[in-house]
Amino acid sequence: MHERVLEHLDRDEPRAIERLLEWLRIPSVSTQAEHREDCRRAAQWAARHLESSGLAVRLRETGAVGPDGRGSGHPIVLGFTHEADARAADAEWADGRARARPDAARQSEGPHLLFYGHYDVQPADPLELWDSPPFEPVIRAAVAGGPGERIVARGAVDDKGQVMMFLEALRSWRAVTGTPAGGARFTVLLEGEEESGSVNLDAFCRTAEAMLRRCDACVISDTGMLARTRPAITYGVRGLAYTEVTLHGANQDLHSGLWGGRAPNPASELCKVLARLWDERGRVTLPGFYDAVRPLAPEERAAWARLPFDPAEALAKIGLPPEADRWGGQEEGYTALEREWARPTAEINGIVGGYTGHGAKTIIPARASAKVSFRLVADQDPGAVTEAFFAWCRSRTPPGCRWEFVSHSGGPPATVRTDSEYLRAAARAIKRATGKEPELIRSGGSIPVAGMLKALAGLETVFMGFGLDDDRVHSPNEKFELECYRMGARAHVLLVAEMLGAGRGG
Ligand code: BES
Ligand code: MN
Ligand code: MN
Repeated sequence: MHERVLEHLDRDEPRAIERLLEWLRIPSVSTQAEHREDCRRAAQWAARHLESSGLAVRLRETGAVGPDGRGSGHPIVLGFTHEADARAADAEWADGRARARPDAARQSEGPHLLFYGHYDVQPADPLELWDSPPFEPVIRAAVAGGPGERIVARGAVDDKGQVMMFLEALRSWRAVTGTPAGGARFTVLLEGEEESGSVNLDAFCRTAEAMLRRCDACVISDTGMLARTRPAITYGVRGLAYTEVTLHGANQDLHSGLWGGRAPNPASELCKVLARLWDERGRVTLPGFYDAVRPLAPEERAAWARLPFDPAEALAKIGLPPEADRWGGQEEGYTALEREWARPTAEINGIVGGYTGHGAKTIIPARASAKVSFRLVADQDPGAVTEAFFAWCRSRTPPGCRWEFVSHSGGPPATVRTDSEYLRAAARAIKRATGKEPELIRSGGSIPVAGMLKALAGLETVFMGFGLDDDRVHSPNEKFELECYRMGARAHVLLVAEMLGAGRGG
């Protein structure tokens, strides 16, 4: 049967791409209030797509729900291949509380997968660096020695393009068999706040705990491959704690001639404080920061060393010389992959204060602020790290100044078992779709839902993504190569086939 589904997928590809471009035209930037309605439209667009594949679809409001029935957060799209799952979820949702029946739920008919994706995207700025407008997607021809034929738009690969691989797989299964997902059992959850820290997801998952517990594992297509010809399964993502700190000085900007040497300069002082966040070996100096970090297993280090990865080549693609791998600020004693995949970091994402316009203006600014984030691994807890960082700042308050702290949330790290039957099924699907055994990799990025699903419902996640290192994720000219899309869509068709096979075989 799956051969016919793959044929349908192939034949229908031009229309599938058209559909994806339509979705990409909706600027669903979750972090910007002016795009609220766009986020809702993007959610509704996905809901219609799922409905046309025969799924029972629900839009769930998140955040505080007002008298108009709309939430203060962006809606979550749910899709169910099995009507009974939709009805059960409705009843539980109406109850407004979790009704976990783990045992009854788990021994049900065949495997039941949760598919998670996000329909929101990162802000498009800086706009002037885009070669074409971010929300007017275009298809660009392959460049010899460079990228292949690709879709360029904000959200092309993160994550609409990757969600589309699965949505179109569902569409083809339904077209050929007349049944949603050909009879395989899926619950689809599309979030609209992933790029803004998933602030309402935890509360949603708690209320929908019973629904989550009916699933056996989660599949997420929101990660990358090792290279164009090296498909991969990601078995770990880092966590994130994202903060903003502002240091206040005088109640006004001051003439730096009259006050320089007399009043504290918050911009200078902020720099001095933050500079102490790393020691000379590149380690983060927050007390206790490494307590919950587990040392790398020798076998894991050995396996990663065998991967076909060249740090210098990767740096060259982003315009950096080989010595950037060892610039001194990076943690000593670990390779580039180890630092990305298994070591925590602290980063200043942005720092502002005082005069930043043209020419010179002599002032001591009234305040300065920085967005400081931490990538986390193993058992590090985002809340604890945020508190530790704020306490650390407080204990270094420059005389006469005061701090203002904001926590922008984030998410826990997640590593998943590499021997689960679902991971093996995904690996077989990728192998059959691409002809290549997928590499087992980790990623330094964060996908907050994975840790939540594990903690709340014991769900393992399989990260089955098809992005590339140079896709310019979160950057101007974000792209998704059509060849990657194709591999991913085929792999998802075959993942459904795996689920059907497992169901029959018991
Ligand atoms: N899809 C990315 C994460 C990612 C990218 C994982 C590439 C692996 C490979 C996701 O949308 C993302 O950007 N997450 C944010 C976290 C969030 C809390 C803002 C991140 O990692 O910065
Ligand atoms: Mn993403
Ligand atoms: Mn992202």
